[in-house]
Order: sequence, then C-alpha cells, then structure tokens
Amino acid sequence: MQPQTAPTNIATLLQAHETKGLLRFITCGSVDDGKSTLIGRLLHDSQNLLDDQLAALGADSRRHGTQNGELDFALLLDGLDAEREQGITIDVAYRFFGTEKRKFIVADCPGHEQYTRNMATGASTADLAVVLVDARKGLLTQTRRHSYIAALLGIRHVVLAVNKLDLLGFDEAVFRRIEAEYLALARELGIDAVQAIPLSALRGDNVTVRSANTPWYAGPGLLEHLESVPLAEPAADAGLRLPVQWVCRPDQNFRGFAGTLAAGTVRPGDAIVALPSGRRSRVARIVSAEGDIAAAAVGQAVVLTLADELDISRGDVIAAAHKPPEVADQFAAHLIWMDASQLLPGRPYWLKLGTRTVSAQVTEIKHRIDVNTQAWLAAKHLELNEVAQVNLALDQPIAFEPYARNRALGAFILIDRASNATVAAGTLDFALRRAANIHWQHLEIDRAARARIKGQQPRCLWLTGLSGAGKSTVANLVDKRLHALGYHTMLLDGDNVRHGLNKDLGFTAEDRVENIRRVAEVAKLMTEAGLIVLVSFISPFRAERRMARELFAPGEFMEVYVDVPLAVAEQRDVKGLYAKARAGQIRNFTGIDSPYEAPEAAELHLDAAAHAPEVLAEQVVQAVLASFEGT
Ligand code: ADX
Repeated sequence: MQPQTAPTNIATLLQAHETKGLLRFITCGSVDDGKSTLIGRLLHDSQNLLDDQLAALGADSRRHGTQNGELDFALLLDGLDAEREQGITIDVAYRFFGTEKRKFIVADCPGHEQYTRNMATGASTADLAVVLVDARKGLLTQTRRHSYIAALLGIRHVVLAVNKLDLLGFDEAVFRRIEAEYLALARELGIDAVQAIPLSALRGDNVTVRSANTPWYAGPGLLEHLESVPLAEPAADAGLRLPVQWVCRPDQNFRGFAGTLAAGTVRPGDAIVALPSGRRSRVARIVSAEGDIAAAAVGQAVVLTLADELDISRGDVIAAAHKPPEVADQFAAHLIWMDASQLLPGRPYWLKLGTRTVSAQVTEIKHRIDVNTQAWLAAKHLELNEVAQVNLALDQPIAFEPYARNRALGAFILIDRASNATVAAGTLDFALRRAANIHWQHLEIDRAARARIKGQQPRCLWLTGLSGAGKSTVANLVDKRLHALGYHTMLLDGDNVRHGLNKDLGFTAEDRVENIRRVAEVAKLMTEAGLIVLVSFISPFRAERRMARELFAPGEFMEVYVDVPLAVAEQRDVKGLYAKARAGQIRNFTGIDSPYEAPEAAELHLDAAAHAPEVLAEQVVQAVLASFEGT
C-alpha cells in the first residue's frame, strides 16, 4: 500500500481540490440564534481563516467583543452587518471554504422576518439547510417558515442545529424534545433526511470536533456531517436544456446562442428543438472560452451554433429534440409573497423564469398555507411572507419543467412592473390545460372594416379621478359633443357597470382590480367594434390603468386625469358618500381609507377644481379631434 503523503507540488494539490465534491448549503433561523457565530466558528475551526483575518478578529474581539477578550466569531461577519446598517442591500452573503474532503458554498441568510426573500434566493440552489434553533426557545414561527421554504424549494437535507446548549448544561432532555418536535414537522413537510446535532457555536461543541459535554449523543459533529452527506447526482437521463441568455452575433457569419446548461449534455450533431417555437435543427459547434469543445454538461456555460438558421432569441430554450420540456401558459404553482404591498389576483406582474421574462397574473389564490400548522386557509390576497398555492396565467407560452424535476426551469420570481422590485418567489407544479383547446376564431369583418363604415377611428378615453371629481359629468358632456358631431360613441360609467356586469364586486383592492380588468376588456371589445368609448371609473391603481392601456393599440388609449384635491371632492360630496365614509359607515372609501394613485403621465390632465365641467369637456373634445388629425 502507498504511504499517505501530503501532495508535494501545487499542481497535484490543485487537482485534488478540483475533483473534490461541492456541497451548497444555507444557514437559517431566527435573529440571535447564533448563525454568525456558527459560521465564524466553522471557518475558524476548519482552518479556513487567513492569518491576517485571524489577527484582525483577535484585535476586534478584544476591542468590541462580547466574549471577555476571547475570539468573538460573530464579529467575522460584522462587515456585512455594517453594510446592512448603511442600507446597502445584501441579499445573501455567499462564503466559500473547503476541507480535505469537500468544498462548500454557504449562503448566509439573515434571520429577520423581512429577509425571507433572501432565504428563498439562497435556498433555490442549496442541497442542505442548517436550521438553527436556540435551545432555550425551541421551534419558532420563523423556524417553521424557513423549513417550509426549504422543503418547497427542494432542499433534501436538513441539519437541525440545536444551539446554545451550553447555557442549559447540555441537557439531553431539552435536545430530545426539540429533535422530536422538529422530526414531526419535517415529516409533514416531506423532508426525510434530518440530522439533529446538539451544539454550542460559541464554545465549539460538536462543530468541528465531537464534544465531551454530550456523551449521550452518538451522531456526527456538524462539519463531519457536512463532509459526508451524499451529494445530489445530476439525473443521468435528463435531456438537454439550454435557456438562451443572449444571441451572440459578432459578424455576418457567426450566430451563436449563449447560456448555461440547466440540464443534460450536448454534443455536435445532437438533434435539438427550440422552444416555445418548436423549430428543429442540429447542433453544429459548441464553443467555449477555450475554443470548440466536443461535449458540454449541466452547469457549463457555452455558445451553441446550429446547422440551420432558426429564429431564436433571449429567453428561448434549446432542448433535446427527443425529450423536450413542456410548453404552457397557465400553471398551478406555489409562491412566497415577499413584498410589503399585497399580492392582488388579476394584477399583471413580470414573471421571470430562467432567462425569460413575460407578463403574468395570479388568476386565483387556491389557498394560503399557515406555516405553523400546514393548514389551508382561504385568501383573497396575500400579505408579506405569506405562502400560497395559486393559479398563474402568462401572456405568452414558455418552456418549463415542474420544479420537482428541474429547479432551473421550474423556479420563478415575480417582479413589480412599476418599482422593479422582486415581490415573490415560486415554483411551478404543473401546467393547466384550460385554454389549450381554445383557438382564435378568424373574423371576416375586421376591426378596421368596422371602424371604416362608421367613418371614424376608435378611441378609448379613460377618465380617472376621485369620487366627486366630476368624471361622469365631464364624460357625459364629451359624449354629447362627439355624438352631435356624428361620432359613434359609448359611455361606460362605474356606478352603472356595477349594477350589472360587476354587481358581484365590492371595493376591496382585489375587487377593484377585477372591476377595472373587466371594464377594460369590455372597452377593448367596443373599440374593436369601431366605437369611441368613454370609461369613467375611479380606477385608483396605476397598475390596472397601465394594464388597461396595454390592451389597446398605440395612440388609441387616452388617459384623462380629472384632478381635484381631496378636500374639494369632499366638500362637494354630491352623493353624501364622503360624510358616510368619515362616519365609518362605508369602508375602503377612495381617498379616505383606500388609496388613490394619481397618474404620472396621463395624456390629459384636467384641473377640475379651477374650471367648470363645460371647459374641461371642451379640452377633452379638442384633444380627441387633434388625435384624429395626427393619424
Ligand atoms: S373603482 O375604484 O373600482 O374604479 P368605480 O368607479 O367602479 O370604482 O365606482 C366608484 C363609485 O362607487 C363611486 O363614484 C361611488 O359612487 C361608489 N362607491 C361606493 N362605495 C365606494 C367606495 N368605498 N369607494 C369609492 N367609491 C365608492
């Protein structure tokens, strides 16, 4: 047998390092559970700190430490905390370290309630989660929420780190009680690989070496466990999936599709299909940073060229022709809502999956899930940190795979279209085939023909403003003028439409979203019939006015802001509703206890406090007539 010698030259050393397995894990738990100390301790005890880092830590610990001059590992991560205090956004801090057996990437996810988002980001690529629990507190809501998210995002291994046991004299009974409670939770969540470890991150018990203080514990220390959990093997039979990141076109003769393989392998000559178009071709070349290569596998970044000229753009997926992923535009999904504003069904958000971004709506919240009890609860909207099963509708079909099969093609985020903030993270469960058998019926008489016979161009004049601003009065006057001039018009008024089509809707935010969605669709049908449609609705939310606008051809939609200060509308109080709202007899009244979001770029901004309705109506009529001349 060869004696074990340390690798003497650097090349051997590097190669040994290269071929070591990589475990990605996250740490999560509540604030003050000791995460920073645990990671600091792990890096220190596994000799992953550089001398100068150690020296700095020693000096910091003497100066600011809370450990009587001993090393205070929490300070190692303090640079980050400082940045956090300064308001610099750090989603997740990734740390790399290694031992002789393995390489590790640990994502440190902050423990505050509002940081659930970061936890979800870190968890979507992790194989294992270290869930920290303060032994004195046991399982908290945050522990359950993070475990739920870990399970949802497909993490298969959990380490339950029962920390601060030194403060309880390493009491086995406490450990066993928490362990049993967590195992019950894990069973419900479908996490089957749980290792509970009693430890003290502060004192180092059971972190890198087994502790003499827990003679009753026969399991591994934390590092030992991290070094030995089985790594996920990429599915051998997965077909190629290459979400196209960008189309690389340095000159006329080269057209390559760049991206990172989300699954499978690829070789020149392989038959592929581009999705969602369904066009087929073969791989011509695989180009990498080092020149042409003979094959590439999952995780590798490559540029593919194809045998045929296919129209492929960013966001498309190049897939194995014999095993393509599905294409769909409606889904059952799970999501975690991560924004302070509510999730409102029917409101359009950007959905980003892989490299593709499309417009999407939550069409239905099937149920919200209580992370403490796993109970399914009815919900009309979602609040910060709530988890739900929902149905999604996209405005275009996308190539996808259920998250359980492929994380890269099954995980998505939702983005607010106005603020560009990430507001949700989710997983696709399966495609809904509801609209699959509905096709567009071709109409012989098209919208242009319908407008032509009326001798006019269709328009949607969208009047928005507070109740009592004068929208309906102005709309009526405009309607009369246009009618007198021989135009074919229709007036849709909020109060009237709420007596019929929308009589099932009230004034909650979610009902208003649906109110506007329906009337916008109706107005669109009317413009297709060739009409000039006046819509007079409070329509208080920017997102829905924007949704309405996007239904129409450019130039067809004119937003008219009928602007009065709240005090003026309230003083007029034509219908006596403001008085009732102030008296608490009407809830969710716009301007009182429900917001009005003023337009930022309306085509027409009417000063309805300064001018009589006749003057305002004339401004609208002139703008409409001018828009005809301009086209
Ligand atoms: S919207 O906000 O959903 O666009 P819409 O224009 O349809 O509102 O209806 C507004 C009308 O409903 C108001 O003109 C008012 O007469 C009446 N109304 C009754 N309750 C409310 C309320 N809570 N908030 C606003 N308007 C209300």
